[in-house]
Amino acid sequence: MTQQTLFDAVGGEPFFRSLVHEFYERVWADAVLRPMYPQDDRAGAEDRLALFLMQYWGGPGTYSAQRGHPRLRMRHHPFPIDLDARERWIAAMHGALDALAPAPLHRAELEDYFDRAATAMINHNPLL
Ligand code: HEM
Repeated sequence: MTQQTLFDAVGGEPFFRSLVHEFYERVWADAVLRPMYPQDDRAGAEDRLALFLMQYWGGPGTYSAQRGHPRLRMRHHPFPIDLDARERWIAAMHGALDALAPAPLHRAELEDYFDRAATAMINHNPLL
């Protein structure tokens, strides 16, 4: 039996496009996160994150075809990501997941990944 990817299980591209759109609605309303993002290229930012997530979860490899190896920690280096920013990013993603309401098992998998990936992106400690 072939194992179904999470990408397919949650509904493919439309799910990830909607998730990322809901996510950026929340990022744009966040006073700490919003200034870090390209103010005049929200559509581009949405596209990059959606393509990355689709690729990560077993969908088409368009992200790497367009952007090369993800190297996410390196790409986040220009942004001061402390614990507060990490919590805000996660809160925005949880809000987006609430809006999309994937099945509990899929939600748990997605949340677990976002949790670990967001922690790995911390590169700044305001107390030091
Ligand atoms: C890009 C912030 C966590 C995936 C970006 C950008 C910012 C940002 C400001 C630039 C927007 C753009 O032009 O595309 C943050 C903050 C995080 C965080 C504050 C808090 C922890 C994550 C996590 C992931 C992720 C957990 C993956 C699950 C990406 C991707 C891009 C990106 C794929 C586009 C990279 C590229 O191709 O240039 N992030 N990020 N980020 N982020 Fe994050």
